[in-house]
Amino acid sequence: MKLVLASKNPKKLKEMGDILSALGVEVLSEEQAGVDVEVEETGTTFAENARLKAEAVMRASGLPAVADDSGLCVDALNGAPGVYSARYGGEGLDDAGRYRLLLENMRGQLDRRCKFVSAICCAFPNGDVVEAWGECPGTLAYAPKGSDGFGYDPIFFLPERKKTFAELTAEEKNAISHRGKALEQFREKLAAYQAQHNQ
Ligand code: IMP
Repeated sequence: MKLVLASKNPKKLKEMGDILSALGVEVLSEEQAGVDVEVEETGTTFAENARLKAEAVMRASGLPAVADDSGLCVDALNGAPGVYSARYGGEGLDDAGRYRLLLENMRGQLDRRCKFVSAICCAFPNGDVVEAWGECPGTLAYAPKGSDGFGYDPIFFLPERKKTFAELTAEEKNAISHRGKALEQFREKLAAYQAQHNQ
């Protein structure tokens, strides 16, 4: 089976390809599938946005397409930045600008609970969808620490390890991360779907 990954991110393509190759699934980039789709993330949930992206690329390519949507949800901010994680604070900010703004908005707040979440959706031309979900709970650090990773990693603290995501190796992070868990669940659900449909 061939799947098109609805993302322009080569790291995600490799990660998805590695995880799904054991199922005999070939993961193609949008470019390899001959499509270039810009999708507005207008959904109010991660699952909705993942589905919007997957269905747009499936329609353009005529092939099954898979997309993910992820972000950071802070309890004391009613789940913000949430689906707006990549755009928190507006267009002008970079990753460090966004996490500094978040720390500023959390100044004086003692409830630091938060979680990273990841939704995956695979849309098939016959209308079927296979969806998966992963979460990783943590707390918001008071100051950034560590230099690995991306996005909000330097301020996402794991109390049981006494480290931020940015202080973990990629392997350590993948083993416990929201995305790692969602991908693992996706692999299992896709294998079940394949078995059911003889693909
Ligand atoms: P997207 O799913 O690629 O749209 O990413 C959404 C945004 O959530 C990213 O731009 C990051 O700001 C944030 N994010 C998602 N996953 C992670 C992670 O593992 N570490 C740090 N930030 C993340």
